[in-house]
Amino acid sequence: MATKRVRKAVLPVAGLGTRVLPGAKTTPKNLLNVVDRPILSYIVEEARAAGIEHFVFIVGRGQGAIEDYFDRMPEIEDALEAKGKLDILADVRRDVLEPGQMSFVRQMAPLGLGHAVWCARDIIGDEPFAVMLPDMLMAADPPALAQAVAAYEKVGGNIVVVEPAPEGEAHKYGIVALDGQDGRLNRMTGMVEKPRPGTEPSNLFISGRYILQPDIFEVLQTQERGAGGEIQLTDGMANLMKRRDFHALEYEGTTYDCGDKIGLLRANVAFALRRPELADAAREAIRELL
Ligand code: UTP
Repeated sequence: MATKRVRKAVLPVAGLGTRVLPGAKTTPKNLLNVVDRPILSYIVEEARAAGIEHFVFIVGRGQGAIEDYFDRMPEIEDALEAKGKLDILADVRRDVLEPGQMSFVRQMAPLGLGHAVWCARDIIGDEPFAVMLPDMLMAADPPALAQAVAAYEKVGGNIVVVEPAPEGEAHKYGIVALDGQDGRLNRMTGMVEKPRPGTEPSNLFISGRYILQPDIFEVLQTQERGAGGEIQLTDGMANLMKRRDFHALEYEGTTYDCGDKIGLLRANVAFALRRPELADAAREAIRELL
């Protein structure tokens, strides 16, 4: 299907991160480490693998370190070069973005994810774009956003990445309703935030990657506050679904919710075990602790 290419990604990082306080008080939650890199470094790597060329960070107060992280740092780079620590130098340089590749938009108050996405409207303009919830770390091959872009190139419209909720826990999540289920990519008919137990339209929850058309901005512009008194992206999408196509993609991979203490711990363990040079030592340390 002929579709406009997805070149830009919105990364909303302006939430308060209350579940990982006090760590997130002075270090933006998405700069907390998983093994030896900030969570955001993995997210940007995933986005680049999906062809994203421009990163729109929606930031709050005290998050200037994010801009610095993706910038050059000549004093560190020069010192590593002089000491011949070239492997570490390569790791440091991998995350440096090109001039003009990143924009920062201030969300003055954390009014909700829908409001955060709306803040990106002028930079996105009139093209489809990705939204990535940067605390959801997804281990997948191909990477989760690349799977979403491939689905978008097939069916166009809007894509919402989903995955099965743990047994009996669907009521804790944003759940999608499908027009029949055949394979991993299915047309959506609705979505509901935290359905009452027993009323869930499926067991598939919205897990943090989206491809959206720019008409979502018109909807968000006038949207009332929803659950938790916040301007919800889910409400905006449910509204837009009345006139635009939405598909749910059940992606192949594993999600770690790094916005939560145990999720962040799980991600650290899982990503250490995936690193050939660390796996044996990590396994040994875990065995000892248990
Ligand atoms: P969460 O609700 O998971 O993040 O929002 P939070 O509010 O930071 O965390 P807790 O619940 O207090 O621990 C999902 C993503 O949306 C961003 C968050 O930064 C997070 O990456 N977000 C949320 C915003 O950028 N602005 C908002 O107003 C709300």
